[in-house]
Amino acid sequence: MTDTDGTAPVTLAALRAMKRQGDKIACLTCYDASFTSVLENAGVEVFIIGDSLGMVIMGHESTASVTMDDMVHHAASVARAGKRAWRIVDLPYRSYETPAQALANAQRLVQEGGAHMVKLEGGTARADIVAHLVQQGIPVCGHVGLLPQTAAQTGGYKVQGRDAAAARAITDDALALQSAGVELLVMECIPATLAHTITAQLAIPTIGIGAGPDCDGQVLVLYDILGIASQKKPRFVKDYLAETGSVAAAVRAYVGEVKVGHYPAAEHVYN
Ligand code: KIV
Repeated sequence: MTDTDGTAPVTLAALRAMKRQGDKIACLTCYDASFTSVLENAGVEVFIIGDSLGMVIMGHESTASVTMDDMVHHAASVARAGKRAWRIVDLPYRSYETPAQALANAQRLVQEGGAHMVKLEGGTARADIVAHLVQQGIPVCGHVGLLPQTAAQTGGYKVQGRDAAAARAITDDALALQSAGVELLVMECIPATLAHTITAQLAIPTIGIGAGPDCDGQVLVLYDILGIASQKKPRFVKDYLAETGSVAAAVRAYVGEVKVGHYPAAEHVYN
């Protein structure tokens, strides 16, 4: 398997090479220093310091309550312990409404939070924001499909892209984001066939969560793979702690299954 060599810091070039070579990218959310070391030792290559921390760490009902200070606090905790994984940090809800606001907040995540890359939700409508950040030298990860920051306003936590028009719109969003300069793309809760088509059309790596086996990489919320579910367990979640008995073994099992394509299995996939 030609992936990252297991010790050198993971780079965007390495992640792009993994896509070209068909080597799966293992990604998890991560929010603190102790888990950073456990996850890196188990071979996780990409961390998303996600605003899901609002629910799983802070007890909020949604990601909408998460602030820039919350994100900086957790991102910096991960960065202090991080030696190897590529760190993607979420721009929280309403922190990227204008190009100038997005840039100021993205710079904070990089300078104070140690982000290698920032992530924002939305497609074509966010392309100008993405282009501005990229022109200013900030690497950006896109996020299409289910968008948790605005899910409450747009019909709730549901699978997206099931009819032809919605599938076309998500595909257009993905292409627009790539044209604007995103270098990774998270796809959340979409049918596996749609994720397959989008992944094949893009030069950049895709990372799926509830998007089937054909994405270039997989991500899950760390607490979900450890069976600490704060909300109803979605179809794509697998509890690895239940079958392994220790945190380190659970993370190793997740990484192993992603690498060989055993996760996600048919039971975790939306059609
Ligand atoms: O906040 C988060 O946990 C996310 C996931 C989709 C990875 O963005």
